[in-house]
Amino acid sequence: ANTILTDDFGRKHNYLRISLLEKCNLRCTYCMPADGIALSPKASLMTADEIFAIAQTFVKNGVDKIRLTGGEPLLRKDFPEIIAKLATLETSLSITTNGILIDRHMEVLKQYNVKKINLSLDTLVSDKFHSITLRNQFQKVIDNLHLLLNNDFQVKVNVVLIKDFNENEIVDFIKLTEFLPLSIRFIEFMPFAGNEWDRSKMVSQNEILSQVENHFLTQNLQKLEDEKNFTARTYKIKGFQGDFGIISSITNPFCDGCNRIRLTANGKIKNCLFSNAESDLLTPFRNGESIENLISTSIKNKKKVRAGMTTVSEINDPGLHFDNRSMIAIGG
Ligand code: GTP
Ligand code: 5AD
Ligand code: SF4
Repeated sequence: ANTILTDDFGRKHNYLRISLLEKCNLRCTYCMPADGIALSPKASLMTADEIFAIAQTFVKNGVDKIRLTGGEPLLRKDFPEIIAKLATLETSLSITTNGILIDRHMEVLKQYNVKKINLSLDTLVSDKFHSITLRNQFQKVIDNLHLLLNNDFQVKVNVVLIKDFNENEIVDFIKLTEFLPLSIRFIEFMPFAGNEWDRSKMVSQNEILSQVENHFLTQNLQKLEDEKNFTARTYKIKGFQGDFGIISSITNPFCDGCNRIRLTANGKIKNCLFSNAESDLLTPFRNGESIENLISTSIKNKKKVRAGMTTVSEINDPGLHFDNRSMIAIGG
């Protein structure tokens, strides 16, 4: 049935991504501007109760998948409380994390059945990890990745590819899937405020596939059936345990099947990753007003492709992305 979450193109938004905070314990250069961001005042961030109540409104209208993002979602002191509350809703729960605090939250993740974890890891070389994240946490992340696998979590590893940085690790990441039941996702570098994006730094879907075919040989590459409303087009190397995918927001967008709606940590609804048109749900909620009409309007205003940037030249123009948020304040 159509609900307030169905847009003019028939897309049903059943997947809510909630950013819990704007802070992170890493400083990935493609995500966090070098001089930081202006943080929202604490009082304007959603509390655990507000997150629950607003999420409940979405679930009532058809959301059945919630992903918690950040910043780094596990940095929220009240993360266990947030999960415990959301777990009472009829929805799946997943998180996207940098992995550093996984061991600390292991029990709560198990207890509330948060079984699908997407972990950001852009390199398998410790020194390079430092150069992209500006922190020395490589071994911690690797240890926690294995901890997740040993505890039967379904793990996807997000790898943002950047020219002359990690494009030479594509094959190494795929080799990890020979004996580990992992899903590696190679992501085309995307432009956001302050991340110094330039088309020449991006590694495209075609370049990724040609490296894979050169190394593993075309006849060993198997196309998999993609998830419903996928972000990643998925493949595997025959005989390998895990698989890999490519998230090509720039050269081959997947907006036709977009089912995602975002809620920022300060309670604004964002109908597209690339859209700067936000609308505040938290203030009206605090005033005791209904937020359903605001949600409906935001969905109705959603553009068909990438916030209206349909052409290559538009998406490739960093100037059109400056007035969007930085990725750290969107959550992916
Ligand atoms: P799954 O539900 O496991 O498929 O996760 P996901 O791909 O929706 O989320 P994740 O947080 O792991 O994001 C992986 C990459 O996909 C990040 O670079 C996100 O920015 C990107 N991504 C997630 N959702 C969207 C989206 O709606 N549009 C675009 N263009 N990219 C997205
Ligand atoms: N381009 C593409 N992906 C990005 N991510 C963060 N910043 C960018 C960017 N500029 C990814 C991270 C994280 C996910 C939520 O978003 O890999 O795993
Ligand atoms: Fe959806 Fe916007 Fe991402 Fe396209 S770019 S998939 S419309 S969020």
